[in-house]
Amino acid sequence: MGGHTSIDEAALRLRSAKTVTILTGAGVSAESGVPTFRDALHGLWSQFRPEDLATPEAFRRQPDVVWQWYQARHHAVLACLPNAAHHAVAALERHLSVNLITQNVDGLHRRAGSNDPIELHGNLLRLRCVAHGHPAEWPATDTELPPACDICGSLLRPDVVWFGEGLPSDALRRAYRATERCDLFLSVGTSNIVEPAASLPWAVAQRGTPVLIINLSMEGQEWGPLIGSLLGAAGEVLPELFRRAFPEQ
Ligand code: APR
Repeated sequence: MGGHTSIDEAALRLRSAKTVTILTGAGVSAESGVPTFRDALHGLWSQFRPEDLATPEAFRRQPDVVWQWYQARHHAVLACLPNAAHHAVAALERHLSVNLITQNVDGLHRRAGSNDPIELHGNLLRLRCVAHGHPAEWPATDTELPPACDICGSLLRPDVVWFGEGLPSDALRRAYRATERCDLFLSVGTSNIVEPAASLPWAVAQRGTPVLIINLSMEGQEWGPLIGSLLGAAGEVLPELFRRAFPEQ
């Protein structure tokens, strides 16, 4: 299914698949209004660069600033709702086996009902302590400083991957397993620049498994003849694709 693919061709592939693996990126949350990292750096935050706020060094140097930044992002994400793309992905689980891998930290796939998504970059709705990774909840009211872990007393931080940190090994292992064991791979709303999104579609296509990229634009993405593409907004394309694949639903 190389080059531009018709939605009907893609629907046929999906209908005959037993297991589909779906990789999602920021584009899937765009229609929910989730501000991107860069978009959110306005007002008081415009003096900062992402690397001033989203690194372990920044948190060691200025835990209060990094904490307050993530507190603001946490509020922004909670104010957003899952959109038609998130709901369509969650509903697809009724028809076939779905492995969902996301680079988004906004938790919207879970909120839409997806079962156990693989969160490659973590989840902003969770906290963990810096010393041992003990999980914790966000405090009910805003605080100036990061709270301490109930168990070990070290500081709590958002459970997301910061610049310079490795991806969580369990999520990575699950993601590779999910891409090895699928008979269709969809990459939706991601620029496919950051690893492993940059190389997963190649690896899958080279094995002979059909791969489809769904994006508003294919600018900057040259995949060659093995990989197909469908242009459009995730919130429109996914529900339409899934409806054509399973019209009886
Ligand atoms: N529907 C489909 N695709 C869309 C939509 C939409 N409504 N809106 C935007 N897009 C596409 C853009 O064309 C772009 O290719 O989504 C992609 C978003 O790209 P990025 O902003 O680079 O996001 P992503 O690929 O998820 O980035 C990966 O990099 O910056 C880090 O941690 C960040 O998790 C993120 C990772």
